Amino acid sequence: MIEVENLTKKYGDARGINDVTFTVEKGEVLGFLGPNGAGKTTTMRILTCFMPATSGKAKIAGFDVFEDSLEVRKRIGYLPESVPLYTDMQVPVYLEFVAGLKGVDRRDVKRRVSHVMDDCALNAVSKKYIGELSKGYRQRVGLAQALINDPEVLILDEPTIGLDPRQIIEIRSLIKSLGGRRTVILSTHILPEVSMICQRVVIINEGRLVAVDTPQNLTAQLQRSQQILIRVGGPEKEVLSEVGKINGVSRVSVKENGADNINAYLIELKKDMVDAGKDIPPVIVRKNWSLHEMRPVGMSLEDIFIKLVTEEKIN
Ligand SMILES: Nc1ncnc2c1ncn2[C@@H]1O[C@H](COP(=O)(O)OP(=O)(O)OP(=O)(O)O)[C@@H](O)[C@H]1O
Ligand SMILES: [Mg+2]
Repeated sequence: MIEVENLTKKYGDARGINDVTFTVEKGEVLGFLGPNGAGKTTTMRILTCFMPATSGKAKIAGFDVFEDSLEVRKRIGYLPESVPLYTDMQVPVYLEFVAGLKGVDRRDVKRRVSHVMDDCALNAVSKKYIGELSKGYRQRVGLAQALINDPEVLILDEPTIGLDPRQIIEIRSLIKSLGGRRTVILSTHILPEVSMICQRVVIINEGRLVAVDTPQNLTAQLQRSQQILIRVGGPEKEVLSEVGKINGVSRVSVKENGADNINAYLIELKKDMVDAGKDIPPVIVRKNWSLHEMRPVGMSLEDIFIKLVTEEKIN
């Protein structure tokens, strides 16, 4: 349904995205995951015909986004990073207005508005002006305007950003329910979010695609090495070698040098040997060193990127 091939966008000399290739099947929900400046919005703007790429191809439902932009626009709904909402309009009035802009048949407008108001649970605020709405409700109005022309393809740029946890849950389940019949691409910084909503994930970093996989496979990749941080008082070289000898430990490195020979060390455990952590304190006790801290280190999204980018394990 969506085909992106060697897509590149340069902003003058600055990099936007570089040689991005991926496809999305009909009915699939694809997560676009990446840190700030990765190129998520850039890719989405190209797909939604908001700006041309420097080179490469993108097709939606078989139509080229550059050559057949009218056909493409008819088939997509777009929730931009910041939705241009008119604060002095009531919700249904605004949605009717957008329906008009998007060329929805006049006879269908009322029906479409009432449909998306149901879908996005907006009936409770049907009398309110958009300016009076909470952020979560505004985001729903944003989603409703993207859905108003009953598009086959939905492109949602960070749909849960800035929402409170309850609103996040609601918006996520709403998006999830949109999959199947529609093809959805959504962008996010949040890894658990893609596991919850998406069948597949594209990871993008500094304009380049670093992984395309299912969330399950990515999570497995992350769990391959679990990390533990310890703060130990003892001779650095000996700590490195003794801890490194523990069965199940794949790597030890000094994370931070402190006073009195008390250093922080980062220990990486082999996959399926995360129990090896319990063997660390006995070694320290046997050596008569002091143990000041010991805690598991969660892998942040940035760690994953660094791992993916530096190791180039997948794709
Ligand atoms: N209009 C522009 N002019 C110049 N450079 C731009 C422009 N828009 C984006 N960029 C650059 O392109 C790169 C990708 O930006 P983009 O907005 O696509 O990232 P993003 O993944 O959406 O990030 P964020 O998570 O912050 O929204 C960045 O280096 C950014 O500075
Ligand atoms: Mg963005």
